[in-house]
Amino acid sequence: MDISIKSALPEQQKSACVVLGVFERRKLSSSAEKMDKACNGQLTKILKSGDMDGKAGQSLMLHHVDGSACERILLVGCGREKDFSESAYRKTLKTASEALLKSGARDAVSFLTELNIGEHGSGWKIRQAVEIIEHSRYRADHLKSEKDNAPALRKIIFTIPGARELKTAKQGLAIGRAIAAGSALARELGNLPGNICTPTYLAAQATKLAKQSSKLKVRALGQKQMETLGMGALLSVAKGSRQPPKLIEMNYQGGKKTDKPIVLVGKGITFDSGGISIKPSAAMDEMKFDMCGAAGVIGAMAAVAELKLPLNVIAIIPSCENLPDGAASKPGDIVTSMSGQTIEVLNTDAEGRLILCDALTYSEKFKPRAVIDVATLTGACVIALGKHASGLLSNDDRLAHSLLDAGNDSGDRAWQMPLWEEYQEQLKSNFADVANIGGREAGTITAACFLSRFSKKFKWAHLDIAGVAWESGSNKGATGRPVALLTQYLLNQCGKSYQLP
Ligand code: BES
Ligand code: MN
Ligand code: ZN
Repeated sequence: MDISIKSALPEQQKSACVVLGVFERRKLSSSAEKMDKACNGQLTKILKSGDMDGKAGQSLMLHHVDGSACERILLVGCGREKDFSESAYRKTLKTASEALLKSGARDAVSFLTELNIGEHGSGWKIRQAVEIIEHSRYRADHLKSEKDNAPALRKIIFTIPGARELKTAKQGLAIGRAIAAGSALARELGNLPGNICTPTYLAAQATKLAKQSSKLKVRALGQKQMETLGMGALLSVAKGSRQPPKLIEMNYQGGKKTDKPIVLVGKGITFDSGGISIKPSAAMDEMKFDMCGAAGVIGAMAAVAELKLPLNVIAIIPSCENLPDGAASKPGDIVTSMSGQTIEVLNTDAEGRLILCDALTYSEKFKPRAVIDVATLTGACVIALGKHASGLLSNDDRLAHSLLDAGNDSGDRAWQMPLWEEYQEQLKSNFADVANIGGREAGTITAACFLSRFSKKFKWAHLDIAGVAWESGSNKGATGRPVALLTQYLLNQCGKSYQLP
């Protein structure tokens, strides 16, 4: 979509639609007030008639209001003015985007980016607006013969209060675009079914991405190479599948050669049936989303490459299917990981940690500044945090805080859980160095405890995205999370004074 920025007067816009905010109790935002004056108080009059009072989630489309230069005016409820927070702003943007995309308007000018939200400047406000309109515009209809109703909207302008804000607004636009494109890619990969989005397909998509950036190199290791490296844990999961496993390595070099890289590791189980410890069939289709960690990491790499960040970032994506078969791992099997630690596979459905542990050990060779793994790892995380926050566990408090901050800045939030020594006891095995499950209690924490045993040589954080990576029900589909969080974290690593070129 064509997105641009300008400073403008609402009443003068010859647009198909002008978007204006209204607070609760019919309190007009300042742009809405200007428009109201130009229209001889018609907005006030219409609101008084009772169709809308400004509650969050409300919207009202008006056509050909006398005195305005535009075809439509979209009024959007913002809730109470004194409660107008970041999340209220996002909700307003979402309501506005959905109403706009449903309408026949081919272009629009939105004044919502001029609303006051704490200390936020135009950069942040525009960036959020870009992410949200692009998110609303996404349709998962590639595989449908008849496409879902395609929006008419082609062009949107976000306004700023004055030319002084132009530079930061443009940066916000660039960041918003990059994050939107990264999340769209993550959603696209996530939504593809397991029969299309195989480990080989994921590797091909990563390779395709590398063609668009001179700073990005991609290679994929196959089974033979993994055998040579001794990745017995990863390979044990792949054994039950006809699809060859891949270890995808994406290397983005935006910093100096000598700069230590940040490593992102993404769980890429392209379908998780549970293996021999097979899952119940209800909603099993949703286990095609078990590669959303990989998709999020690939999406973040796309954003980093687009923004040309001055950092070195490496993505490692272990990828395979988890299926039952005569050759599949069985409960009780003992496998040897790349680290040399032996693992008793008490439940073949706890496969994510088995592929991640070898990817984590593999990461050591990059002498990383930090390693962040991203995985749809535990159903327990969905129970603990629901769909609003990713679970965060880390062996380094500073790293954990940077990620929590990045989550808050971007609106793609995480919440920290403890990684105390006491929980490690639950992973005791009578026959191997460690068991791959830790019992019913604290499932998200014991999964992270398992990973921590393979992350002793670097600063490491784990994001359990099981609750946030996709939505179920009538809106079933990948969300693109945590692309925004990861990209924000990486942006923050460029230093406070860093400005996009
Ligand atoms: N991919 C699942 C986790 C999952 C389940 C995410 C449901 C989102 C929704 C993972 O591989 C898994 O099966 N985990 C098991 C671990 C258990 C066997 C210790 C789980 O959470 O049930
Ligand atoms: Mn599983
Ligand atoms: Zn899984």
